[in-house]
Amino acid sequence: MIGVFDSGFGGLTVFKELIKVLPEYNYIYLGDNARAPYGNKSEDLIYEYTRSGVDFLFKKGCQLIIIACNTASAKALRKIQQEYLPENYPNRKVLGVIIPAAETVWELIKEENKQSQPIKIGIIGTKATIKSKVYEKELRKKTDNLEIFSKSCPLLVPLVEEGWTGKRETKMIFKKYLRPLKEKKIKYLILGCTHYPFLLKQIKQIMGKTLIINTPEAVAIKTAEYLDKHKNLEKKLIKNKKQLFLTTDSPKEFKNFCLKLFKNKIDIEKIVLK
Ligand code: DGL
Repeated sequence: MIGVFDSGFGGLTVFKELIKVLPEYNYIYLGDNARAPYGNKSEDLIYEYTRSGVDFLFKKGCQLIIIACNTASAKALRKIQQEYLPENYPNRKVLGVIIPAAETVWELIKEENKQSQPIKIGIIGTKATIKSKVYEKELRKKTDNLEIFSKSCPLLVPLVEEGWTGKRETKMIFKKYLRPLKEKKIKYLILGCTHYPFLLKQIKQIMGKTLIINTPEAVAIKTAEYLDKHKNLEKKLIKNKKQLFLTTDSPKEFKNFCLKLFKNKIDIEKIVLK
C-alpha cells in the first residue's frame, strides 16, 4: 500500500495526480484536519504531527509514504528519514514533495544553465515552507546560477478551503502576493503548497509567460520513476486499485471537499492520531 499524508484536504491535489499516473496501487490517504493548518506552526509540532501520521500509516501496512504536505516535507521529512525510519521502520520509505519539484526544474533548466545569465525562479508557499528555505537549498544542489525569489502566501489556504477560488477578492490578494515575483520577471514559479493547484487558472492569468511548476504533477511523475528504480519496494505494494480516505476531523467536511476533485463515491473514516 502507498500512504499519502497531509495536514488536511490539500494533499488531495497530490493524491489525484498519483492515481492518474499510478492507478493500479492500493492507497490510504490520511488528512490530519483536526490539527491543520501546519503552515504557521513550529518545527517541533510539525515534526511530531507528521511523525504520528507516518507511524499510523506504517501500522496500517503502508510500505511507502508520500508526504504530500509541503510544510511537513520542509520541516519534518529530513528528520523522519534520517532518525525515525532507521530506528523504527528500516525497510520502509517516506518521500516528500520538494525534491520532485526541484528535479523537474533541473530538467527544464539543463540547457539554459549553460548560459551566463542566472535563471530566475519564484517559489510560493506557507510561512513555514518559505522560512525553511528548503526549496532554495534543494534547487541550488545542482547549480548556483539561480536567482530565487520566495513569497509566503498565508491567506491562500483558508481562501481555497472556503471555496473562494473564483472570487474577485481572492484574485486581488493573489495579485498582491504575486506582483513582486512578476516584477522580477521570473521564468519559473513553483507552487510550493498543496492548495495552490486549485488556483492554477488564476495564477497562469496573472503570471503570463512564467512556466508554472505544478508540484503535485511533479510528485506523481517522480514517484513513478522512483518505483521503477526500486523494484524490491514496488513488488511489496498491493495492486487492487483500492483507496481509503482517513481524516482526524469530520468525515462529512472531508467528503464535501473531496467532491471538488473526485466524482466517484469514496469511503472516509475518522481516526485519532496520538
Ligand atoms: N498542506 C500545507 C502545505 O502544502 C498547506 C496547509 C497547511 O498549512 O496545513 O504546505
